[in-house]
Amino acid sequence: MKQISSTASLLLLSTVMLGMSSASFSDDDKSGFFSRILSSGKAPGVAPVTNPQYLEECGSCHFPYQPGLLPARSWTKVMAGLEEHFGENAELPLEDANRLTDYLIKNAADDANYKRSKKIMNSLRPDQIPLRVSETPYFIKKHNQLSRKMVQDNPKVGLISKCKACHTQAERGSFSEKEILIPGFGGWKD
Ligand code: HEC
Ligand code: HEC
Repeated sequence: MKQISSTASLLLLSTVMLGMSSASFSDDDKSGFFSRILSSGKAPGVAPVTNPQYLEECGSCHFPYQPGLLPARSWTKVMAGLEEHFGENAELPLEDANRLTDYLIKNAADDANYKRSKKIMNSLRPDQIPLRVSETPYFIKKHNQLSRKMVQDNPKVGLISKCKACHTQAERGSFSEKEILIPGFGGWKD
């Protein structure tokens, strides 16, 4: 009898865990116990940039977006259009452009074992080739509670593409909620 009841409770427990795991996957990391277990083995943010040339060339006008924030197909497209890059000319000598494209593709979100890279990939249809991190469905969902006052009309932000304005550890590839400080508004609780 004892044997049976412990088997039954084990079954019950695993059913509960199964239910919770799907919930915490869709609800992302509210730092739930189960989601932490499930994401163990995967690093939490995106891989930080290690390439000095990338930091120099692609970090001079804006935050150097980590390769793990977009799929390889996006980086290929971004790098193929540098002479008309979001209204600016960011053209590079062919050799440099090729080297950076290589770096971006090798470290793109597709195969990265980082939680945010996986979330971004999973939010995209295979035929989608976003040119912006800020156009990926995962990003849009995560930022849809921000107001105009916090972003566009905020003199210290202005553009949602200025990751570092709010994510204090963005350069380390870390975007967790407790590290967010919106200029003029403070920390984030949702
Ligand atoms: C001459 C300045 C300049 C240089 C150099 C530059 N960019 Fe940009 N980049 C811009 C501007 C301007 C935007 C658009 C900003 C906005 O409106 O959000 C942008 C936006 C982007 C975005 C989209 C950001 C988002 O998610 O909304 C990506 C990705 C990007 N750049 C990648 C690169 C890469 C990779 C390099 C290096 C090869 C690079 N940029 C070099 C000016 C530059
Ligand atoms: C105006 C401030 C602001 C800017 C600019 C901004 N973010 Fe965020 N970001 C937030 C807020 C607020 C959240 C929501 C946190 C939550 O509710 O989990 C968030 C969430 C995220 C998350 C999910 C974190 C988590 O733990 O769920 C990622 C990843 C992220 N941002 C990346 C970026 C990147 C990359 C950029 C630049 C392309 C950027 N953000 C620009 C404020 C900002």
